[in-house]
Amino acid sequence: MVVTTRSEAQTLTLGRRLGRLLRGYDVVCLDGELGSGKTTLTRGLAQGAGSRNRVASPTFALARVYRGSRWLIYHVDLYRVSPDQTRDIGLEEFTSDPRGICVVEWPRAGEAYYPEDRLEVRLAHLRGGRRLRFVGRGPRSRRIVRRLGLN
Ligand SMILES: Nc1ncnc2c1ncn2[C@@H]1O[C@H](COP(=O)(O)OP(=O)(O)OP(=O)(O)O)[C@@H](O)[C@H]1O
Ligand SMILES: [Mg+2]
Repeated sequence: MVVTTRSEAQTLTLGRRLGRLLRGYDVVCLDGELGSGKTTLTRGLAQGAGSRNRVASPTFALARVYRGSRWLIYHVDLYRVSPDQTRDIGLEEFTSDPRGICVVEWPRAGEAYYPEDRLEVRLAHLRGGRRLRFVGRGPRSRRIVRRLGLN
């Protein structure tokens, strides 16, 4: 599914809708060039999951955790992390927490650590906005994409 957002507010709204559909064990990989809206989408997602925490780029912290109304949201940024260093972050802890939703910016370095069934969002700049392509990599994540397309 492909969605075009024309403003930051629209990216946030889309993120909120996504956040309302997620639950523990869900993994969302946000792949896309610099400034394409990954953190903005995550901010909306966390709000949609009921979090009132401030969502900021975890580039320096590597990982942050927000408390939603039902789930924790683990927000990881692998921009500066090599595949070798990824092991030290303990991604498995995030993806195997039944209470946790895991969101990863720049997911490539962590490839080996994600469950097969994950939601991939590929973001790109588009003149006047952003294009977001949602790809479900298994039955659960495909279901999320379908539901996102409905509401
Ligand atoms: N649809 C949109 N149209 C225009 N600007 C947008 C849109 N969506 C988000 N933005 C803006 O794009 C900028 C970069 O967004 P953001 O920080 O979320 O990108 P990012 O992909 O996380 O970047 P990085 O690669 O540095 O982590 C922000 O100023 C945000 O407000
Ligand atoms: Mg970011």
